[in-house]
Amino acid sequence: MMTACMIDGLKALLSDLGVDVPIPAFSQSDILRRPIDIYRNYLADTASKVLGCDSALAYEAIQSANIKDNSDLTLVLPKLKWRTDKPKDLARDAFIKFSSTPLFQLPIPDGVHLRFIFSTLTLPQLILTYISDRSEQYGRGSLLDGQPTPKKAIIEFSSPNLATEFHSAHLRSTIIGAHIANLYECAGWDVVRMNYLGDWGKEIGLLGVGWSQFGSEEAFQENPMSHLYDVYRAISESFIPEKEASRKARDEGRDTAEIEGRGIFAERDRFSKRMEDDEPEEMSFWKRMRDATITYYMQEYERLNIKFDEFSGESQVTPESIAEVESVLKEKGIYEESDGSWIIDYSKHGPKSLGVSVLRGRTGSTSYLLRDIAAVLDRNKKYAFDKMIYVVTSEQDVHFQKLFQALRFMGQEDLAAKLEHVSFGKAQGLAQQIGEVHLLGDILDRSIKGAHDVLESDDISHPEINKTDESAKVLGITALITQFCGLSKRVSNLTLSSKTLVSFDAETGPNLQLCYSRLCAKIKESDSDDAVLANVDYTYLQDDPWTEVIRILAQYPDVTDAAYKNYEPSMILTYLFRLVEEVSNCLEDDDEEENGDNEQTKTSSGEPPEAILAQTVLYKLTRQVFDNGMALLGIAPLVSP
Ligand code: ARG
Repeated sequence: MMTACMIDGLKALLSDLGVDVPIPAFSQSDILRRPIDIYRNYLADTASKVLGCDSALAYEAIQSANIKDNSDLTLVLPKLKWRTDKPKDLARDAFIKFSSTPLFQLPIPDGVHLRFIFSTLTLPQLILTYISDRSEQYGRGSLLDGQPTPKKAIIEFSSPNLATEFHSAHLRSTIIGAHIANLYECAGWDVVRMNYLGDWGKEIGLLGVGWSQFGSEEAFQENPMSHLYDVYRAISESFIPEKEASRKARDEGRDTAEIEGRGIFAERDRFSKRMEDDEPEEMSFWKRMRDATITYYMQEYERLNIKFDEFSGESQVTPESIAEVESVLKEKGIYEESDGSWIIDYSKHGPKSLGVSVLRGRTGSTSYLLRDIAAVLDRNKKYAFDKMIYVVTSEQDVHFQKLFQALRFMGQEDLAAKLEHVSFGKAQGLAQQIGEVHLLGDILDRSIKGAHDVLESDDISHPEINKTDESAKVLGITALITQFCGLSKRVSNLTLSSKTLVSFDAETGPNLQLCYSRLCAKIKESDSDDAVLANVDYTYLQDDPWTEVIRILAQYPDVTDAAYKNYEPSMILTYLFRLVEEVSNCLEDDDEEENGDNEQTKTSSGEPPEAILAQTVLYKLTRQVFDNGMALLGIAPLVSP
């Protein structure tokens, strides 16, 4: 929100620096949220004046620099439609017209581009004051300005199944989904975090049969989740021969009805049918199992700093919405009976590649797809959402295409347009790191145990890190989150390194925490209060390595915007790792200087105390940006000794 007070603050800061930036700025820019937009505005304005071209066109011609470019902004000259006598020397010709300004050094001609570097004379004060004025709001803020009320987004993620394994795809969905929910909130949306449990259908029927054979009340009381998992695994094993016989019959073109009409098949179907018919005994079993599952998961998600607003699930889809889906599809001539089942034949209605899907089986049971279609109607009635995002593995790409297409068949184009499947690639290699485990709680325990082992090993000596249980908890969870977030695009498969989960190598979560702790230690060491820090002399920060850190700090809101628009958690993580790299250069320089010289003065490097104060301000605001970015990823900072 463009508040008058923020505008005044910014105007005062800019006039202090002798900078004349047009406010209000170009419509695409948001100078109150993104400090680099101040530079973009200024550059567009300057370019239009010195080259005599349209300033809006100039704004469009500015590109953010590539990291490798060694510059901050690039002006793409052909986009300016600027005429020169010597078009061959476009960049050189334009270059002559520019002089250095309060915000930029002299540009560098490069092909048809002019590359611009921020002036280090004004950069520290401008950016550090800007961040300090916003603190935890830096990088947040509404990308939805102009909306009378915040828009509502449902982010559905994690969504494990009752009694079955919590596999890597669930973990990746949990971590990416939580991050996307945070990014949406940060951008100004009203977010509902939803968990859609696999808590209905034939698999639950199978669990019911398993319980009658292998269930033990005592074992369930002791450790509900692990007992349920054991029961399910045992019955699934007993079921294998029947399933194989049925598959063989199908492959040979024989009727499977006879095989599926007896044994575990029949018991499973009977159990799920009785659930569909709301029979008290089956329903009370199901409810106990579901409640125990939710209690368990709530605890485990909390360890990952995640809280859901709603534990919905396949069981919660209302019969009314299911009936509505079926009747509309019938009415539109899309729903047909085939062999006792009800299906959609996408190959007839398009797109062909989606084939045929059963929505209601021979025994009358509803399918995963039918429940998902009806769930959209339910959620729309309940929340009237503006957007709904499913964070689910790419293995279900086709399922979601079918779901969205079915809604379009129903004439619900507008509703379908609000839905998005944010899919992601496979993650492999966790078992090699922590061993074979099947439940979320065990994954977390093993990760923390890995952190314990690393902390206790003699190779690690970081005085900034307490070797406590608390540190191990934070480090283990951080390692897990950062690994599952990944540094490449979410659609690509993720192969975890074969080494241990917890390591302090570059570009790892624990290394991020280490850098954070070292920053905290530095800030503590300087022991200066905020009043002193408010009046620092920024001229001490006008050189490397300080300016390199400040440049990166300035980019943070651009990065959160890009991560939000692309649903890309890796962007935030990559950014934080770059910041670690630059900050480490400062911290290392500092340490070398301190160790090298005499020990008599606090600033043994011979630096004046004012320089140390200015560096402390930089460290504090860097820590603020770490705090903001880590919160988006659900990473709690490590408490320093
Ligand atoms: N429970 C499902 C599974 O484990 C994921 C659910 C995804 N969400 C959905 N609306 N279908 O595969």
